Amino acid sequence: MKKPVILCVDDEPMLLVSLKQQLKHQFGNDYQIETAEDGKEALEIIEDLLEEGIDLPVVISDQLMQGMKGDELLTQIHALVPKTLKILLTGQAEADAIGKAVNSANLYRYIAKPWEPTDLNLTVMEAIRRYFQEKELTQFYASLEKKVTDRTQELQQKNQFLSIAVHDLKNPLSAIRGYAEMIQSDLDDMPKAEILEVVDRIVLSSRQMFELISSLLEVNEIESGKMNLSLEVMDIVHILQWLNDHYHERAKAKHIDLQFHSQAEQYYVMANENTTRQVFDNLISNAVKYSPYDKCVCVRICQDKNVVRCEIQDEGPGLSDEDQEKLFGQFSRLTPKPTGGEHSTGLGLFIVKKLLDSMQGNVWCESTLGKGTTFIVELPVAKE
Ligand SMILES: Nc1ncnc2c1ncn2[C@@H]1O[C@H](COP(=O)(O)OP(=O)(O)O)[C@@H](O)[C@H]1O
Ligand SMILES: [Mg+2]
Repeated sequence: MKKPVILCVDDEPMLLVSLKQQLKHQFGNDYQIETAEDGKEALEIIEDLLEEGIDLPVVISDQLMQGMKGDELLTQIHALVPKTLKILLTGQAEADAIGKAVNSANLYRYIAKPWEPTDLNLTVMEAIRRYFQEKELTQFYASLEKKVTDRTQELQQKNQFLSIAVHDLKNPLSAIRGYAEMIQSDLDDMPKAEILEVVDRIVLSSRQMFELISSLLEVNEIESGKMNLSLEVMDIVHILQWLNDHYHERAKAKHIDLQFHSQAEQYYVMANENTTRQVFDNLISNAVKYSPYDKCVCVRICQDKNVVRCEIQDEGPGLSDEDQEKLFGQFSRLTPKPTGGEHSTGLGLFIVKKLLDSMQGNVWCESTLGKGTTFIVELPVAKE
């Protein structure tokens, strides 16, 4: 970091030299003393300092100079660097110039020529102190303002999260209530089969509520940073094989051909077993949920250098670029809708992403609209 600069402007070279000597003696350890012989040169120096981001706490300028006068120069400097403190060196009676500089350049002090060395030193020292105090204060306010903005945004997000969650819980709950009231008022007139059907719907709605509440709790846990996943060496082929068997029936009901290919019989990764299961459960369930009937869903595993890569490929509707941008956000129910009346919360992929982040894993999607979607997950290979 370069030293802050004290700039002296005077068109009398002798005076400039002695001013520089004096300031160097007093402030030379911590400050660079720069000089200019006229206003134009002074402004050029300041532009350079601004470009390099070097502090300019103090400018000392003579009033009576060839070309640009001191008060005019300080006015221009004020427009460039308002925080810099400006000191004017004046000859005899130049009250007029002083008045102008005070008004338009926010003049800090004027010192009469010939100056008293101690007077000048004290004035410059005080100016420097003020400059840095003001700078610190400005930075402090800026950081305070940022904190307030961040907190406000956080609260707004929490608020939005809560209102969506409440809304999503209200739907199945009012359904449950409606069905229960139906039985309550019509029990005597309802055939047993119809009652059973209504009860089935009650069970389904309460399952949906339960699923949503579990997801909400999980999101909350993730957000509050309480996730402490223990990582262990585990075989990912085993988990994916298990999930494939698990989803076989559901896929068959939609005539979906669920395939599984692994290049090796085992792939050992560093991960948390339950969490990994949950990640792939979400991805495979999505592939089955959003695929039309009579399509194919294919799960593949292979190794690429230090990662094991798993792909879940479907021949579903695919995702537009716009949808892909929102894919891993909260409550992002996008254009593709479940094809077999399944339930959708829009939290699954958000959780998938967060869970993989906390296992040093990675997930992304490659999709062509109308052709299908492939989700790719990478997990670190377990070291021998
Ligand atoms: N394989 C997929 N094919 C097409 N769209 C998908 C696929 N997976 C997810 N989506 C879209 O992304 C949205 C978010 O998915 P997700 O977070 O798992 O929530 P949910 O499945 O509960 O709706 C879904 O609503 C759907 O529109
Ligand atoms: Mg899902």
